[in-house]
Amino acid sequence: MENNVFEQMAKKYDTEERMELAKVIVKEVRPELRNSKSKSLIDYGSGTGLISLELSDLVDSILLVDASEQMLEVAKAKITHRGISNSKVLYSDFTEETPELKADIVLMSLVLLHIPDTRKILQALYNILNKGGKLIIIDFDKNNNVNHPKIHSGFSHEELKKRLSEVGFTSIEMKTFYHGKRIFAKQDASMFISSSIK
Ligand SMILES: C[S@@+](CC[C@H](N)C(=O)[O-])C[C@H]1O[C@@H](n2cnc3c(N)ncnc32)[C@H](O)[C@@H]1O
Repeated sequence: MENNVFEQMAKKYDTEERMELAKVIVKEVRPELRNSKSKSLIDYGSGTGLISLELSDLVDSILLVDASEQMLEVAKAKITHRGISNSKVLYSDFTEETPELKADIVLMSLVLLHIPDTRKILQALYNILNKGGKLIIIDFDKNNNVNHPKIHSGFSHEELKKRLSEVGFTSIEMKTFYHGKRIFAKQDASMFISSSIK
């Protein structure tokens, strides 16, 4: 991971604004997990678990993976406190090294924008998925008002679809589902959800 800004902000990450946005994302993701009771899910870049710890009733197991130990400490405390028995955490950065893991579903919410080499991470996630497995990405649409050296300024649907298909994904779907005020680097922005199959 390029920088460790998340290590410093972990304990203060769950603000009202982030929790509100997480609710919007959870509402959009839950229907994607219909009929997934027997499936394993990796939440890549899980952070404090704002998204996947609201999905644990829909799948068999959840592995929250993050490159920040502090974010995972917060997630772990929530798992213990809420008594969630099918979820655990893993400290890892798949752009550095991909562990021997397999999953039926990979979820990546507001993470791709932080990873400089998108092809590399998409390839690593493709490799980790079982055949027929599903990748769900939530991120910001391309936004010309966002200009920051450490993050992507969102993604154009066409470019990301092309990237996903180059990596090997099929049945790629993508749609904008939410517009919000000051949600992306303090700019008004929209979010998309994408699903694709290995
Ligand atoms: C904006 S937070 C999103 C957290 C969570 N997915 C959510 O939607 O609430 C981005 C997270 O991605 C993690 N992250 C960034 N780059 C990563 C990488 N290369 N590998 C794993 N995690 C990464 C950060 O540590 C941080 O926890």
